[in-house]
Amino acid sequence: MTAVSPGFSPVELQQAARDHLWLHFTRMGGYAEAELPVIVRGEGCYLEDSNGKRYLDALAGLFAVNIGYSYGDEIGQAAHEQMRELPFYTNWSSAHPRAIELAATVAELAPGDLTRVFFVSGGSEAIESAWKLARQYHTARGERRWKAISRNVAYHGTTMGALSINGIPALRTPFEPLVPSVAHARNTNRYHRPPEETEEQFTRFLLDDLEHVIDAEGADTIAVVIMEPVQNAGGAFTPPAGYFSGVREICDRHGILLCADEVITGFGRIGHWFACEKYDVQPDLVTCAKGLSSAYASIGAVITTDKVMEPFLEEKSMFSHGITFGGHPVMCAIALKNIEIMKRDRIVDGVRENENMYRSTLEQLLELPIAGDLRGAGCFYALELVKDKETKEGFSDEESETLLRGFLSPQFFERGLICRSDDRGDPVVQISPPLIAGQAEFDEMTGIIGDVLTEASQRI
Ligand SMILES: Cc1ncc(COP(=O)(O)O)c(C=O)c1O
Repeated sequence: MTAVSPGFSPVELQQAARDHLWLHFTRMGGYAEAELPVIVRGEGCYLEDSNGKRYLDALAGLFAVNIGYSYGDEIGQAAHEQMRELPFYTNWSSAHPRAIELAATVAELAPGDLTRVFFVSGGSEAIESAWKLARQYHTARGERRWKAISRNVAYHGTTMGALSINGIPALRTPFEPLVPSVAHARNTNRYHRPPEETEEQFTRFLLDDLEHVIDAEGADTIAVVIMEPVQNAGGAFTPPAGYFSGVREICDRHGILLCADEVITGFGRIGHWFACEKYDVQPDLVTCAKGLSSAYASIGAVITTDKVMEPFLEEKSMFSHGITFGGHPVMCAIALKNIEIMKRDRIVDGVRENENMYRSTLEQLLELPIAGDLRGAGCFYALELVKDKETKEGFSDEESETLLRGFLSPQFFERGLICRSDDRGDPVVQISPPLIAGQAEFDEMTGIIGDVLTEASQRI
């Protein structure tokens, strides 16, 4: 077999990985005997491993490779030119052209008055920075507010601040005590609500809950409410009508900043540059990362308004926060090229145009007895799995473990599909391919998921 990496045969890669590489969120013990997947190249929506096996990537890396894997030459050229011109300089007390151009480009794409851009290296840093910015904004205006409110089961990253904002107990508990203080409101999961509840009643119920959480914490202690427009963890929870305008109104009434975490939804996944546009919400802060460069670079950003920046424009005032690599010129050049490609190849329009096709293709899966609910928007879906469709009864923790980790994930992989079965809330299969996926890719995904779930149903 040909070497897939200089100096390492596939067998040597396996051994070196076992000896040296610590994988993220991975039960490393599971690979003591089993072969570790080593992905060596990508093209379009497909990946290839070190054994030459092809996979359809129904997860776009990690909800990130929005333009797919085939733009390496073009983006590599932009990175190369930037490397030659200026491989690095910081955004601390000075600037460089690519950061300025990217800030202006992002400001033009972001909805409404979101025109100020602070660059970071990824999603967790964006969340971390947004919380710090919110805290310092209130301090600068003479108010001591430090708390954040987010939602149950939401994932917002892993650094201590971002982790503290997460609403997933299993991720939080090992690292307690966390950063004070975060409280969690209900998320917009409608599947398990009473069937007779109208959308309007559901919205009211959620907003009352949020109001209750804010009251219990003390509204004047809360710096920021952080929510994804469509919540990923738990399975693509879309907001009911009127929800975000209600959240905006509550935040305004209590002087709380509203942050939309668009780390996944930003840059096209929902069929708009920012999902806030679709749901007609004007946040004070937006966090973004993955799609900003389609994951060709490690770059993220906090985007905010003149209102939030104003206290920092006074002569002796500054946001006391910075990251060496935030707005790295090569990362900015890559993100600029990514956005140019997305515009030129009409990637975001394409998601809107294909949305009905995506949904109707995936809806075929609802015929399976194990498939309870399909939800999501744009090119971002989740299929909730249930034991009993009539009663919507879910699986116990043990059953989830056996079904998801023990059967579904390895089976998808075995059949050439990279697709996540997730049990951070009720068990779901997440479907979020590169935004260039067409009918053929959706048919293939649906076929494989359907076959594997049919087998899973028979096992239950
Ligand atoms: C909504 C959301 N926010 C924040 C993050 C953290 O991003 P990163 O992994 O780049 O730190 C993620 C990562 O998946 C995410 O999905």
